[in-house]
Amino acid sequence: MPVKTYQPQANAGSFRGYAQSQMAAVDEEIARIGPGTPAGEYHRRFWHPVYITEELGELPEAIRILGEDLVLFRYGEQRDQIGLVHRHCIHRRASLEYGKCEDKGIRCCYHGWLYAPDGEILETPAENTKTAERLRKSTRLGAYPVIEYRGLVFAYMGPPDRQPEFPVYDACVYDDMTSATYKAPYRCNWIQVLDAIMDPTHTTYLHSRNSHPQFSEGMKAEGVLHFYERNDNHFLGSSTRRVGDNVWVRVNELILPNFTQAGSAFAVDGTRQCYFGRSCFTRWVVPVDDENSIIYAWANFGSRWDPHEYNTREGYEMIEQGEILDRSLEERKRFPADSEAVEGMGSISTHKGENLMPTDRGIALYRKRLRKQVRALTNQIEPPQPIKSADSCIRTYGQDTVLTLPSKNDEDDQMYLDRIGAVVMEMQFDLEHFNEGNRDDEIVSRLKKLEADGID
Ligand code: FES
Ligand SMILES: [Fe+2]
Repeated sequence: MPVKTYQPQANAGSFRGYAQSQMAAVDEEIARIGPGTPAGEYHRRFWHPVYITEELGELPEAIRILGEDLVLFRYGEQRDQIGLVHRHCIHRRASLEYGKCEDKGIRCCYHGWLYAPDGEILETPAENTKTAERLRKSTRLGAYPVIEYRGLVFAYMGPPDRQPEFPVYDACVYDDMTSATYKAPYRCNWIQVLDAIMDPTHTTYLHSRNSHPQFSEGMKAEGVLHFYERNDNHFLGSSTRRVGDNVWVRVNELILPNFTQAGSAFAVDGTRQCYFGRSCFTRWVVPVDDENSIIYAWANFGSRWDPHEYNTREGYEMIEQGEILDRSLEERKRFPADSEAVEGMGSISTHKGENLMPTDRGIALYRKRLRKQVRALTNQIEPPQPIKSADSCIRTYGQDTVLTLPSKNDEDDQMYLDRIGAVVMEMQFDLEHFNEGNRDDEIVSRLKKLEADGID
């Protein structure tokens, strides 16, 4: 039987495998987040969510955040207070994951040393010596301050004299919204996960055309993109799509270093009007270590958010990435979602191996600013914190707006969509400092007027 051979279709010189077989280097400056690294120091200037309160029971939990091994535990007579300490006892390194939660703190299982939540050594029961007394005065277990807020435990892991005010976002204080906490692990570097929020184009391809419509049919349409940078740390990516006679403006956002919001996942599909519908999630991409990340988030439900029927564990996973997390390899190949896209890049991606395109402008914008701030911090210039408005909330923009504005006979529709997208965004920027509490009402009424008057 003749041996079947395959002839290259092009000449041999067009094959580049050998020339490109060496891996590009890791983007050390912004990808690595361990203690003492530039981006690690940068992250240690912000509050990060590190756990879901109701998942912390009576026993301590070992966690890893920013490359540090830690233990989260309950203490106090009612065990209603929460402490966060380095995982290993400073006596002889036993893990406090096996410690005992007590009224005053956590006690190591090995020789019974008791630590206060701020790391003070309260007792060294087998060591009633001057040496132990000296040690108690001179040394502490590493510990970090925590704040429990709306069902999430937040920690600040930076220098104590740089601890920022705890940020409260407008997205957290709506009376008519129901929120539920969720988490989602990603087995890759935090930048890979974060990039997706500034990449509105992937909803058209990954979430719609290449799998099946994971969110809605309307997302199949390619959007006209706009990207904005505001206040040096707030990035917006809007995608303006045509769905029949309607125009759908969907806005994703990122506040450095890792706060993200978007429009709805399931409430809006472009077929019905919507005026400043708000984000389906309020979410942080938290680095676990250089090769793992975890999302801590609130999924948001109500008339301006996703429908209550998605307020289930599977619902949160679908809001997070369009599919549930626990799927077979075959399912993940047939219907890939965000996990497949970002984990498939490898555990820590090499930015030099990319070719950024105009649709990646949001990614280029935020990475450039991030890099600048990481570098500045190495020169003792502190990064900006999110900016509060007069009502002490931080303004956010993650949203959907759907207006009935049919295409015009005398104009290219892409140009028209481009203009509508820009007008909708700029109108909101004009109202940024509008009378507190009425901002949303004013945005809604101006959007309705815009729709009624039309856009020239
Ligand atoms: S190792 Fe913890 S008390 Fe000895
Ligand atoms: Fe996605």
